[in-house]
Amino acid sequence: MTVHVNEDTNVFHLQTKNSSYVFQVLGNGDIGQVYYGKRIHVRDSYANLMTMERRDATVAYNLEHPEFQPDHIKREYADFGRGDFRFPAFQITSPDGNRISDFRYAGYKLTRGKFRFEDMPATFGDKESAETLIIKLVDFSANLEIHLSYAVFPDDDVIVRSAKFINNGNSLMEINHAFSAQLDLPDNDYDFVHFSGAWARERHMERTPLRSGVQSVGSLRTASSHQENPFVMLARPHTNENSGEAIGFNLVYSGNFLDQVEVDQFATTRVLIGINPNEFRWGLTHSSPFQTPEAVLAYSDQGFNQLSQNLATFYSKHLVNQRFAKQERPILINNWEATYFDFNEDKLMTIAKDAKKLGIEMFVLDDGWFGKRDDDTTSLGDWFTDKRKFPKGLGHFADQIHDMGLKFGLWFEPEMISIESELYKEHSNWMINAVGRPSTPGRNQFVLDMSYSEVVDYLYDKISAVIKETKLDYVKWDMNRYITEMFSYALPYGQQPEMPHRYILGVYDLYDRLTQSFPDVMFESCASGGGRFDLGMMYYAPQAWTSDDTDAYERMLIQYGTSYGYSQSMMGAHVSAVPNDQTGRITSLDTRANVAYFGDFGYELDITKLNKRDRAKVEEQIKFYKQYRKLFQFGKFYRLSNPFEGSKNVAAWMVVSDDQSEAIAARYQVLNQPQANYLRIKFAGLDPDKEYRVNDDEETYFGDELMNAGYFVSQILDPDKKVRESADFSSRLFVIKEV
Ligand code: GLA
Repeated sequence: MTVHVNEDTNVFHLQTKNSSYVFQVLGNGDIGQVYYGKRIHVRDSYANLMTMERRDATVAYNLEHPEFQPDHIKREYADFGRGDFRFPAFQITSPDGNRISDFRYAGYKLTRGKFRFEDMPATFGDKESAETLIIKLVDFSANLEIHLSYAVFPDDDVIVRSAKFINNGNSLMEINHAFSAQLDLPDNDYDFVHFSGAWARERHMERTPLRSGVQSVGSLRTASSHQENPFVMLARPHTNENSGEAIGFNLVYSGNFLDQVEVDQFATTRVLIGINPNEFRWGLTHSSPFQTPEAVLAYSDQGFNQLSQNLATFYSKHLVNQRFAKQERPILINNWEATYFDFNEDKLMTIAKDAKKLGIEMFVLDDGWFGKRDDDTTSLGDWFTDKRKFPKGLGHFADQIHDMGLKFGLWFEPEMISIESELYKEHSNWMINAVGRPSTPGRNQFVLDMSYSEVVDYLYDKISAVIKETKLDYVKWDMNRYITEMFSYALPYGQQPEMPHRYILGVYDLYDRLTQSFPDVMFESCASGGGRFDLGMMYYAPQAWTSDDTDAYERMLIQYGTSYGYSQSMMGAHVSAVPNDQTGRITSLDTRANVAYFGDFGYELDITKLNKRDRAKVEEQIKFYKQYRKLFQFGKFYRLSNPFEGSKNVAAWMVVSDDQSEAIAARYQVLNQPQANYLRIKFAGLDPDKEYRVNDDEETYFGDELMNAGYFVSQILDPDKKVRESADFSSRLFVIKEV
């Protein structure tokens, strides 16, 4: 049993392997948060933890109970307007304009298992792996209900929360905002850890102590964004990779979000996770409840590595399409950085043939195969083959690729429209723009109104036809601009603020229909690289293009930051040409592969132009990756040395097989140092009692020695001064095998 309910005291104790989450019904019918942290015993009541003292200058609940002051009560899902002045979890406007709610506890329901949503991505679990508790709250005078859902996954130390709003009356109620989860913590002794960046510089780790007031990250780009990611953590100041408490928060959603932390006058901390209250409002009618997306809460008292590993396991069992969750991902070649828009069938065939010779398994045709698209100014929406480039049709080209023994993948950007397109000539009103206002272009393109079901139908038909014609194995679904002039011709006046959320629901609808109709096609999501690297996307597309930045050094940072909240198998990672197109930097072919190995590996360069030496190297790299692919994609991931902290000159990480018989570690040196210190790298995750060999060493070592005493790493890179390559951005791999 993981959920313990005491019906006499109305205490609810959600217990996982290592954590406890406790809340209870308060005297006024509200729900109070009692405790979230390391696992504690189940008891009838936790009166000590709920002690209330009267504080001056604070309003009370009523005259009889002056010590019951909502402003310093830790709550589960706070309203606003009745004495709690912190930011509320939700707010509703009644038809007369008042915004006061009074929800009281009205019962609970406990079921085994965890059910999916109909129109949104959600976690899932069977009767053995999950238990779901629904707390019913009722506001009698407004005729409203809120159902707070807590799905408990005991093995992974994860609790998934969401809220559902139900209107039992006949008047239209307006939800001004509704977060997915609120967590009130009794102190503020935490660091806020989040992952910020920009296009080509996604998810750099930042860590700052909490302070009074509000700290937040969020997005108003109708995408989770390059700039901030919904995954954040609260960690004790001393927490590191291997010890200390950390709580992880994420949202199963791909649109506007807000992760907000508020430290109040008594240094208690309120966390809110959910859809951004800005650019949101929802009309709640009698017939259709409103369901928030899900928030994932994870707890670790063994540092960040443990938290990330729990999350990785959790997502692979309870979020990602099970058809692909554990399926080894093919090594691919993508023609984008090799040709950009400048290709024809012959050019692509030479790349594909060479790729096949080198051992690559899938050819991905990127942007430019459709309409009349020779640059980024035209044809988005025209999802039919450009006969100038493929005179015999794309089906014919795909057949040739398949005949060679390669899988075939194709790029789409479904949500977009170019003014210069057949689609625009026919359906200019499908483009998002506000009446009488100029439309703001992004990358020369505009966005389709995905909240409009006719648009989704059109895209479904067009994309399905291409998938069938090409017997497609893989879709790269791109999204290359954020949305402006948010307005829908399909929605009446009062519902315009629903548009950003409805847009995302339309995207999910299309994803859902395509993945259901073509269950064997693997989808990879992309948004100018990592602009939609989120759990909503991962539900449909088990991997994402991590970043448009393929420079080895920048990629190392991006993958390092991303690894806190997401697994390696979610990260597309390719080797590209140098000087790198995004940074102009030159790094060795070894280092480029040594970074890309720790993800879904591929190449994104014109391999026909490689010299003999590099060709041989690429062939070796592919062999090597195939040998250890399972370990790279699904092994337990340990971060060893953080490039965002300390000297910032080194990063190291490793993957370990489930049975601890095999591991591969990598160490990346940013700038080379003369007369560097002697160095021992300390590995992690090995079996202390097993004996291992590292690379080709004759000597063998016990796991405890490798983890606690370390392994000597020479700092003299090229003693004979034979290799005339830059010693900066060097890297080393350590293949560790049980003997
Ligand atoms: C985006 C993607 C790239 C590539 C181009 C094509 O930038 O992130 O990988 O597909 O679009 O236009």
